[in-house]
Amino acid sequence: MRRVAVIGAGAAGLAAAKALLDDGLDVTVLEKGDRPGGLWAQDNASGLSPAYDSLHLNTSKGRTEFARFPMPEEWPDYPSAALIAGYLEEYAAKFGVTERIRFGTTVAAVQRQKTGWDVETDGDTGTYDAVVVANGHNWDPKPPTPTYPGTFDGVQTHAHDYRSPGVFAGKRVLVVGMGNSAMDIAVDASYVSEGPVLLSARHGAHIVPKYLFGRPADATGGALAVLPWRLRQGLAQTMLRLAVGTPQSYGLPKPAGGLFQNHPTISDTILHRLTHGEVVPRPGIERLDGGRVVFTDGTADDVDVIVWATGYRVTIPFLDSAWLGDNPEDLPLYQRVFHLDDPTLAFVGLMQSTGAALPVVEAQGELVAAYLSGRYALPSPAGQRTAVDKAHAAAVRRWGHKRPMMRIDFDQYTAAVPREIRAGIRRAAAADKEVRP
Ligand SMILES: Cc1cc2nc3c(=O)[nH]c(=O)nc-3n(C[C@H](O)[C@H](O)[C@H](O)COP(=O)(O)OP(=O)(O)OC[C@H]3O[C@@H](n4cnc5c(N)ncnc54)[C@H](O)[C@@H]3O)c2cc1C
Ligand SMILES: NC(=O)c1ccc[n+]([C@@H]2O[C@H](COP(=O)([O-])OP(=O)(O)OC[C@H]3O[C@@H](n4cnc5c(N)ncnc54)[C@H](OP(=O)(O)O)[C@@H]3O)[C@@H](O)[C@H]2O)c1
Repeated sequence: MRRVAVIGAGAAGLAAAKALLDDGLDVTVLEKGDRPGGLWAQDNASGLSPAYDSLHLNTSKGRTEFARFPMPEEWPDYPSAALIAGYLEEYAAKFGVTERIRFGTTVAAVQRQKTGWDVETDGDTGTYDAVVVANGHNWDPKPPTPTYPGTFDGVQTHAHDYRSPGVFAGKRVLVVGMGNSAMDIAVDASYVSEGPVLLSARHGAHIVPKYLFGRPADATGGALAVLPWRLRQGLAQTMLRLAVGTPQSYGLPKPAGGLFQNHPTISDTILHRLTHGEVVPRPGIERLDGGRVVFTDGTADDVDVIVWATGYRVTIPFLDSAWLGDNPEDLPLYQRVFHLDDPTLAFVGLMQSTGAALPVVEAQGELVAAYLSGRYALPSPAGQRTAVDKAHAAAVRRWGHKRPMMRIDFDQYTAAVPREIRAGIRRAAAADKEVRP
């Protein structure tokens, strides 16, 4: 029996643990918080969750659920964060993961020893044959970098700390960013703020409503997945333009790239608030000026609260740079899972998907389990590197220099992992030059 430590009991750690248990491995899940579900559990004692009261899925239920644990039919297409937290808790209980979780346990350091891995927590150190890193990458707020010149006299807060709109009552609010956090927070604030909420974007983004032509907007993705992404892009962009128009028609900046070439921004409500004038677009910020914010077009507004919805850093504090390199965003991983220097160090969830996360981490968990149980053999180290280089080059062509190493195409990836597992099982059977655990 191989001992495996899984770090984190969010969707990724739970999916990995389930797959490892299914393959008969001895699994311990180390979780900082007091419950499973990771960021979806708003009151998680980890203090890491960015979930706010109005948070709902923005990927549809049918495209988000674990294949091995469908969401209830009676649920809406876009369930609330509380429902998703409950779903993940049930998943953990149903598949015997809950009793393997050590809650209230923060991993402080992971170090390679000759015979395995030492995992040091705030309580003890355990030795494992393999480590699965599933600590999430949406908990360490990224401040605006470089910082904007000048000083600001009002309140500054990051989207991570936002919970409910009461904090904006009677305030003049500026929300910075065009990601999904910015959309939700601008909409929430717009019902209680003094005057319209200002929404500042230094770059444009395509905004996809949750429903298109009466169906969840991502519902057609599966059927179109066989097409090359450029073709899918053209079709989807045309549908989007016909249904809702361009971002420019709402006064927002023109997106620099095409749809599917950045992380999708999904919101119906922002379009509605923009058309009512309750949210008003602003360009990028030039400088802060006491109680005012000056924008790149030379205009300025009085502002009481700035919400930096500027995203999250990828942080893996318990691994040193010998394993992570200079920036974990650039960490090359075979199949976005296996460390190239030692595949007994695996990562689940360290990716940026064009769609939902759960089916991706479910597939990744199954890949790790296939390897650690010995059913699946990796290609040679040179073969792994070649595959990573090829995937990276393709990602740069599609996504440019925004986290290309982490990018995956949801449909292509979830279809490719089962093929990869079958190929690895054949390699294991052939047992020639491949690497085995
Ligand atoms: C606001 C928001 C909304 C989102 N909406 C969607 C959506 O609609 N659809 C979708 O598919 N995806 C969505 N995502 C992406 C989301 O990241 C995934 O759905 C999924 O929750 C990721 O799971 P995870 O396990 O990788 O990370 P997390 O859920 O962050 O879980 C990581 C776990 O690791 C634990 N941990 C961290 N560090 C340590 C440590 N040192 N020691 C021990 N434990 C540790 C944490 O406490 C946490 O429980 C959203 C993300 C955010 C931020
Ligand atoms: N289910 C939901 O409804 C929901 C809600 C919230 C979040 N999420 C998910 O949570 C994750 C994080 O989303 P997020 O919106 O918090 O972060 P994000 O997707 O990383 O978006 C950050 C935004 O801030 C901008 N930005 C970054 N640095 C800036 C700076 N210095 N000045 C001005 N603008 C800057 C970025 O634009 P540039 O292009 O200019 O860098 C981008 O528009 C994503 O996976 C998202 O899908 C989902």
